[in-house]
Amino acid sequence: MTGRLSTPSVRSELRNYLISAYRDDLASDILSGMTAEQKYIPSRYFYDARGSQLFEEICRLPEYYPTRLELSILRGACGALMESFGEGDLVELGSGANKKISLLIDAAPGPEGEGLRYIPVDVSESALAAATEGLLWGYPHLHVLGIVGDFTRDIERIPRGRKRLITFFGGTVGNFTGPEAHRVLANVAAMMEEDDRFLVGLDMVKPVPVLEAAYNDTAGVTAAFNRNILAVVNRELGADFDPGLFEHRAFYNRDLAQIEMHLVAREAMTVRIPALGLRVAFERGETILTEISRKFTRESAGRLFGAAGLAVERWFSDPRGWFALASLSRAAGRPVEPAGMAQDPPARGGPAGIHR
Ligand code: AVJ
Repeated sequence: MTGRLSTPSVRSELRNYLISAYRDDLASDILSGMTAEQKYIPSRYFYDARGSQLFEEICRLPEYYPTRLELSILRGACGALMESFGEGDLVELGSGANKKISLLIDAAPGPEGEGLRYIPVDVSESALAAATEGLLWGYPHLHVLGIVGDFTRDIERIPRGRKRLITFFGGTVGNFTGPEAHRVLANVAAMMEEDDRFLVGLDMVKPVPVLEAAYNDTAGVTAAFNRNILAVVNRELGADFDPGLFEHRAFYNRDLAQIEMHLVAREAMTVRIPALGLRVAFERGETILTEISRKFTRESAGRLFGAAGLAVERWFSDPRGWFALASLSRAAGRPVEPAGMAQDPPARGGPAGIHR
């Protein structure tokens, strides 16, 4: 990590820890999901090239407030977050748009990324490449270590030894069930040193019409995003889902404080999934749950973090409290046990706590 100016290729490295597990994981997840009482497909399979493109479009929709709010909160918070961060690693769980990381780099004491290394962790190598290229050119001193991996599994691959600010933007923590979120957070807590900080974006509970509009945009982009997950299953497993026979449905489940996205069968049908040797019967009106997006209060977030061995050090929000960025430190004097907790869902069971 010298401050020497060099070309982007010299300042970047890529490590791939995904041993092409993607299709195997998808196959076993689809088998579980299509044989469950409430059929489901895990939301992480939304993000193929087309899905990632649609998601970026979602972020620009007038109804979809989280991206813009998080960015504006970060604009106000980055000074305080980076004030003493002259040297260290900026880790991003799931590489997003560079805008957020750029704000942090700009707010650091050193010029043009000097002393900083950006470490995005993402399952998509193409997303990693896209996120890092612009940064390498834009910040002539920045170093980049791209980690192709699944941050729910490969967290220990993140190098130690330097001070770290780990970011988890977008409210993505809300796409996990309680036990899943607990495990991800506890795993991060377990690898944190005293000076490290963990910055987590949270979408907050707010008036239901605002929440529901964000997942039911009038342009139909979210509907296209939702249906695209069937195209992913078709392509990867040779399935014959007809996306046109499924309707987009998203609503707020008040009891569980979460948006649920479903695909509703417009008619009875049988879908073949050759890679699994499976035929899946759908009744008319039956749904596939494709995503949960949990909404938090300061209290519910505090409980989730506390249980995972994390302490809220600073809380940044917008005036209406619609979105929040929590800056967390490892809770003092408390060893954290990340793996094999009692709340873990059964390995093959459906996601817990998502049934209506
Ligand atoms: C940014 C991944 C958390 O749950 O709001 C957007 C994904 N789904 N519209 C969210 C999403 C439908 C989004 N995350």
